[in-house]
Amino acid sequence: MSNDDNTSNTTSTIWGGRFKAGPSAVMEEINASIGFDKRLYAQDIRGSRAHAKMLAAQGILTEADVDAILQGLSEIEGEIEAGSFEFSRALEDIHMNVENRLREKIGDAAGRLHTARSRNDQVATDLRLWVRDALDGLDGALKDLQAALIERAQEHAGSVMPGFTHLQAAQPVTLGHHLLAYTEMLGRDRSRVRDCRARLNECPLGAAALAGTSFPIDRDMTAHALDFHGPTQNSLDSVSDRDFALEYLSVLSILAVHLSRMAEEMVIWASQQFAFVRVADDFSTGSSIMPQKRNPDAAELVRGKAGRVFGALMGLLAVMKGLPLTYGKDMQEDKEPVFDAHDTMELCVTAMTGMFRGAIFDVERMKADAGKGFTTATDLADWLVRVAGLPFRDAHHVTGALVAVAEDKGCGLEDLSLQEMQNVNADITEDIFDVLGVENSVASRTSLGGTAPDNVKAQAAQARERFLK
Ligand code: ARG
Repeated sequence: MSNDDNTSNTTSTIWGGRFKAGPSAVMEEINASIGFDKRLYAQDIRGSRAHAKMLAAQGILTEADVDAILQGLSEIEGEIEAGSFEFSRALEDIHMNVENRLREKIGDAAGRLHTARSRNDQVATDLRLWVRDALDGLDGALKDLQAALIERAQEHAGSVMPGFTHLQAAQPVTLGHHLLAYTEMLGRDRSRVRDCRARLNECPLGAAALAGTSFPIDRDMTAHALDFHGPTQNSLDSVSDRDFALEYLSVLSILAVHLSRMAEEMVIWASQQFAFVRVADDFSTGSSIMPQKRNPDAAELVRGKAGRVFGALMGLLAVMKGLPLTYGKDMQEDKEPVFDAHDTMELCVTAMTGMFRGAIFDVERMKADAGKGFTTATDLADWLVRVAGLPFRDAHHVTGALVAVAEDKGCGLEDLSLQEMQNVNADITEDIFDVLGVENSVASRTSLGGTAPDNVKAQAAQARERFLK
């Protein structure tokens, strides 16, 4: 291949002063980020506006130049939004695409916009702004999901279902209580969103390439114009830090764990063997060969996509771990995992909201299952402690013996006769039967955070106050 075939004759107008030839086609391909960082256009233009106004306020640029810059930037924003902007791979990234277009529009003044700035602090600022917007959007989506769960929890505050440990029937609980457990998980996710946002909210703009600048800039002014709570404190750290991206991916990964566990329960509950729930038509799919099938594909995909989000976090951790200060081009690899994990989780949260809003719970079936597997054995033991005065360990032993009798007979604890019970422990009286039904069992669990229907109603009301205000 001759040099002409794969080498551009034109050097970059933006950084090509010292070069005789332009980059090879392969160099251009590996170097370019415009294919994905065009998603930063709004943040990039916003950052440039703030920077230009600050330069004017400090007397570094003339008002006339800045007016032209602001006018040009607005037109460019319009072109990008209208889809008429022509992105160029030769111009590498969003920053140079915008600047180059600005030069076409306003001439020399465009070149002055980059005074006291570098793409290094520019991209660090743009991505922070983008992640900050993403965090705000995620918080709203999580709130909607919590709203759906709280609504269903209120509706099912008294619906009894089996509670599990080890996926073995353990004790009866209420469906509302179970749905409010999800609400708490998501509440912690939202608090991680807030923490991440607070730590992220410092402005790197003005760090320039790495060392700061000799121009008399006002970093407080740009920071506040961009709604940051202030500027970052060390210029080297400012351009090399991607903690905020890693933290966002960590937040998304923990959220992905939560949604995956919720999705897994949907899959289990929707099986014919459990049949606790029917996923509504609009969130189910059929099979091309088995006409009877109704698959909870959305839940399975939410479960599956968690792997992809963890991959994004692991990928960026690996990119960052060996980098010496300050900026390295490796860091251009930060954007795709952030965008992909963000899009993935936004979709997953929305899908879960739809799925839970429409889920058709079979409360009769759940209730029938709630008593299977001697799930009220603890209630029986508690009765022996409370009424017959046995130490809990002895009560546990007596109850175990009663479970063995019931198991031999192939019946539930509540189906044993008083005589059969008294054969095991003479202190047992008729009123033991009051605690053996699943409804009685859940009604008695009135401790703080417990599953009693009255508790759950109160917890749902509190959850509304805590999460939906
Ligand atoms: N496209 C680059 C990135 O995403 C922008 C910063 C480039 N800086 C540089 N000195 N080449 O990281």
